[in-house]
Amino acid sequence: MSPAQRMPSEGDGYYLGRDYVSSSRLNLMHYLWKDVLGYSIHPDIPVQDSEDFRIADVGTGTGIWLIDLSRQLHSARLDGFDISTDQFPPKQWLPENMSLHTLDILKPIPEEFKGKYDVVHARLLLPLVKNNDPTPVLKNMFSLLKPGGYLQWSDHNVTTWSIVTASPELGSSKVRAMIEETDKLAPSKLNWLSQLPYNFIKQGLQDVSHRLHPPPPDLRLFLAQVHCVFAEEINLVAMGSNGADHGVPSNRRQIQEAAKEAQEGAAIQYVFECTVGRKPVA
Ligand SMILES: C[S@@+](CC[C@H](N)C(=O)[O-])C[C@H]1O[C@@H](n2cnc3c(N)ncnc32)[C@H](O)[C@@H]1O
Repeated sequence: MSPAQRMPSEGDGYYLGRDYVSSSRLNLMHYLWKDVLGYSIHPDIPVQDSEDFRIADVGTGTGIWLIDLSRQLHSARLDGFDISTDQFPPKQWLPENMSLHTLDILKPIPEEFKGKYDVVHARLLLPLVKNNDPTPVLKNMFSLLKPGGYLQWSDHNVTTWSIVTASPELGSSKVRAMIEETDKLAPSKLNWLSQLPYNFIKQGLQDVSHRLHPPPPDLRLFLAQVHCVFAEEINLVAMGSNGADHGVPSNRRQIQEAAKEAQEGAAIQYVFECTVGRKPVA
C-alpha cells in the first residue's frame, strides 16, 4: 500500500489515518472496548428509548458506537459528530434514528446543538487533546448537554503502559522499540486522563465517577496486534508528511518484528478508563 493511500487526514493535524484500514481498526477496537468495559453506556446513566431522548457521540469516526447502540435504542435520536466525514458510512445505510454531522469540537458549538443532549459520549479522543489539556474539548461537550444530562468519556490511559510477557524467559525488546518509536509521533507522556475526573468537576459536572478497566489476559494478544496496526498507520501517515524527519521507513520492519514477538507472548498493556459526570439541573 503506498503512503499516499494512507494519508487522508492531512490538513487538520490528525496524526492517524482515515482510510479502510484505519476504519477497520476503529471498528475492531469498538468491539474490544465493549468487551473490556462490559457496557456501551455506563449503567449509572439512565437511558430512555423515546424520540425526545438525544445522544451525541463526539469524534465519532466510523459511527460504530452509535450504530451498535441503535440495536437497543430504536426511537432515541442518535447524532454523531466528527471534524471529517471521511469515515462516515453512506447516510442511506444508517439506522433511521441516527444521523452524522461535521463538527470541530475545538471550535464554538453551533446554537442548534447547544443544550440539546441527554447523553454526550466520547471515546478514543487522545489525538485531539492539545497541550495535555482537555479543557477546550470538555467545555464544548458540556455545552452540548441538557441540564441534568450526562457526559461519558472513555480513553486509554497511555501513561499506565507496561510490557507483559506470557513467561519470564520471553523477550520483549522489539515491542519496546516499537513503542518508543511510536511515542515520537503520538505523544504518550500525557497525564490529563488521570486528571479527567478533577477537570469534570472544574467544569461544573456533578456525581463524577471514574472507573479503571484493565483488559483481561485473553485479549492481550489481540490488543497488541491492534497496537501494531496503529503503529504502522501512524508511521505511514507521518511518512506522507514529515516522515523523513523521523526516519520512518526503517520502522516497518521493526513493527513486523514486534508483531512476531507479540504472537510469541509479549504485549503492551494499559488500562482503559471511563469517566462519567452529570450537568447540574439548574
Ligand atoms: C481515534 S478516532 C475515535 C473514533 C470513535 N470515537 C471511536 O471510538 O471509534 C478519533 C476521531 O476524532 C476525530 N477528530 C479529530 N479532531 C477532531 C475535532 N477537532 N473535532 C471533532 N472530531 C475530531 C477524528 O476525525 C476521528 O474520527
